[in-house]
Amino acid sequence: CGLCTVHLEGKPVLSCSTLTVKANGLHVTTLEAMKEEVEEFAVFMADQGADQCGFCSPGLIMNVLAMKKELVNPTEEEIKQYLSGNLCRCTGYMSQLRAVKNYLAYKKED
Ligand code: FES
Repeated sequence: CGLCTVHLEGKPVLSCSTLTVKANGLHVTTLEAMKEEVEEFAVFMADQGADQCGFCSPGLIMNVLAMKKELVNPTEEEIKQYLSGNLCRCTGYMSQLRAVKNYLAYKKED
């Protein structure tokens, strides 16, 4: 579902399916450690009307923040591919996709 996504050396991984030994000596970043970026993106998503129950939000946030650092000007297909492991039971993904594209455009203006 993506709920347990963390960054391992800046790349998103599911902590539930990553053996601890694979993380040995590597830098692990949790959602809680990225408080400022997480809050900014979460508020942006809410303002865009792109979240509902919030169950999928932690995974979506961690994946979008990693994608923002990894891909420069991602296409819609690249965004869909990058976020494909993040399951959302509420939004039908279209509002999330629209909001993510708007967020990336907004951050490019910064
Ligand atoms: Fe409910 Fe995504 S907003 S699962």
